[in-house]
Amino acid sequence: MATNQLLPLLLLALVAGSHAGSIAVYWGQNGNEGTLADTCSSGLYAYVNLAFLTTFGNGQTPVLNLAGHCDPSAGTCTSLSSDIQSCQSQGVKVLLSLGGASGSYSLSSADDAQSVANYLWDNFLGGSSSSRPLGDAVLDGIDFDIEATNGDFFDDLAKDLAQFSSQGKKVYLTAAPQCPYPDAHLNTALQTGIFDYVWIQFYNNPSCEYSSGSIDNLTSAWRTWISSVTATSFFLGLPASSAAAGSGYIPPDVLISQVLPAIKSIGKYGGIMLWNRYYDELNNYSATVKSSV
Ligand SMILES: *[C@@H]1O[C@H](CO)[C@@H](O)[C@H](O)[C@H]1NC(C)=O
Ligand SMILES: *[C@@H]1O[C@H](CO)[C@@H](O)[C@H](O)[C@H]1NC(C)=O
Repeated sequence: MATNQLLPLLLLALVAGSHAGSIAVYWGQNGNEGTLADTCSSGLYAYVNLAFLTTFGNGQTPVLNLAGHCDPSAGTCTSLSSDIQSCQSQGVKVLLSLGGASGSYSLSSADDAQSVANYLWDNFLGGSSSSRPLGDAVLDGIDFDIEATNGDFFDDLAKDLAQFSSQGKKVYLTAAPQCPYPDAHLNTALQTGIFDYVWIQFYNNPSCEYSSGSIDNLTSAWRTWISSVTATSFFLGLPASSAAAGSGYIPPDVLISQVLPAIKSIGKYGGIMLWNRYYDELNNYSATVKSSV
């Protein structure tokens, strides 16, 4: 091929490359979704959120819940350490997700936020404790999937966690708000402007999700989010199959031909987030859309 034909192709490749996004996935709430190691070695994901730390704050002893995968109270989740390290060696970042739709969590004061931050540092991040639920592996960060409480003191928690980045390895902060803006539980935290990635839940929220063939409410919400919150980038959070959520599923062909081109052109696009690994594997969603993400 002559150089005068090659140059436009190279430029096209560069432009296409600059729009390449990543896939984030939630793992942990279904014992039949396969191992964490297999999830990472699928090569589909850049971020895996371990779901969830369901109980914390207000003086409660924190509780990790990984459904049928292992039993934290019996100490069997420490076997996940080698999986986490294998994920990280393949470039996959592994985060602990706080909260979820049905948990027992709230923060009662700035001091309470600091003690939760210290607990997370000592038990999941770079600190040390004799009772690390996931063993020695040092997670890459903390995900806020806060779907209860009015959000008080979660800004303190975010700032306290960010402080630990100064002790060496960066602590990533991510959040999974609902698409109606502002989020009822996460706005206080998000207004700190210190989150790396915000994976917005465009499901179970009819007012801003894809529906009846229209992407307008979704793109309008995307515009509002990226102009109202400071973060490195934003991810389109979706159900990985129609069974994974009450509403909001976007068939792969619609995602590829309509939704992704629209939000990429609006801006601050980082990729897609999927709930969850179990449904993604059943529906082959990531594999089908990956080259367009
Ligand atoms: C878009 O949102 C508006 C306002 O919430 C709602 O009335 C309308 O039905 C939504 N559009 C679709 C296609 O769901
Ligand atoms: C999943 O999708 C990929 C990409 O389209 C395809 O190559 C693969 O065969 C699919 N796997 C299954 C089990 O359908």
